Amino acid sequence: MGTRDADTVAPESCPTSSGMPVLGLGTWQNTDADQCAESVETALETGYRHIDTAQAYDNEEAVGEGIARADVDREEIFLATKIWISNLAREDVLETARESLDRLGVDYVDLLYVHWPARTYDPEETLGAFEQLYEEGLIENVGVSNFLPEQLEEALELCDAPILANQVEMHPLLPQSELRETCADNDVEVVAYSPLARGDVFDRPEIQEIAEKHGVSEAQVSLAWLREKGVTAIPKATGGDHIRDNWASLSLDLDDEDIEAIDSIEERNRAVDPEFGPWNQ
Ligand SMILES: NC(=O)c1ccc[n+]([C@@H]2O[C@H](COP(=O)([O-])OP(=O)(O)OC[C@H]3O[C@@H](n4cnc5c(N)ncnc54)[C@H](OP(=O)(O)O)[C@@H]3O)[C@@H](O)[C@H]2O)c1
Repeated sequence: MGTRDADTVAPESCPTSSGMPVLGLGTWQNTDADQCAESVETALETGYRHIDTAQAYDNEEAVGEGIARADVDREEIFLATKIWISNLAREDVLETARESLDRLGVDYVDLLYVHWPARTYDPEETLGAFEQLYEEGLIENVGVSNFLPEQLEEALELCDAPILANQVEMHPLLPQSELRETCADNDVEVVAYSPLARGDVFDRPEIQEIAEKHGVSEAQVSLAWLREKGVTAIPKATGGDHIRDNWASLSLDLDDEDIEAIDSIEERNRAVDPEFGPWNQ
């Protein structure tokens, strides 16, 4: 397998599961408004059709600007945002979701996540408000993020609107086996955030060897491994080089030996670990 060139991957080759494109663009810490709009525009023009933002990233307006600038119809784009942990009381969900739509310049989002099950999160009240947004047509799907298996199961019981995905940190140094099983049992997609472990996967010799063998970047190896696990990945990339490099992972097929070598990595590394994370309670 030779070096992968992003230009050889057509947009329509981006596979989907449940209608969600399996590779998206992350935007956390892409806070310079011009830069962020440019990243989103470049991604959409490269072929990406899934963009991930959040109220807490302080860039919803710039993401909306990038979407407006790109020559891609809104209906073709899978747009996700998240309600921050201080806004999860019923009235705040209803009000701030509308504010997010205004900042994004859209009349619906494809996926609205509960960013973390923390602070003002009250399962019944919060998910009741998400249900209302779903019924009003402002969101196409409910998402949860950073939910432990038991919290996901509780949410599934309480929420009448479809819960499409649980967005959690996942990469070769945090394979999330138990959580993936719970998601699979309940037809909930896993979306991997920090799919490059914020750069830490690049230093693993197993990943480096596989990258060299296929003539691709370490980033592509990590993203192809996630795809092989049936997981959607949303790597954050700012400039065109990284955006295109990650896109090219869609045409990298790892073989059984590669997958086994990555599965055998024993190092564990959680890159995003705030005190309010449910695993710290
Ligand atoms: N739900 C949550 O609680 C949560 C938490 C964390 C993240 N997220 C979401 O997940 C997204 C991704 O996670 P993340 O931003 O934490 O980390 P990440 O995607 O694992 O890593 C991003 C870092 O890797 C670099 N990079 C990207 N592509 C590269 C490539 N091909 N070669 C070399 N370096 C590359 C980026 O640099 P450049 O920026 O310079 O391109 C950036 O420094 C976030 O942006 C956000 O949308 C969600």
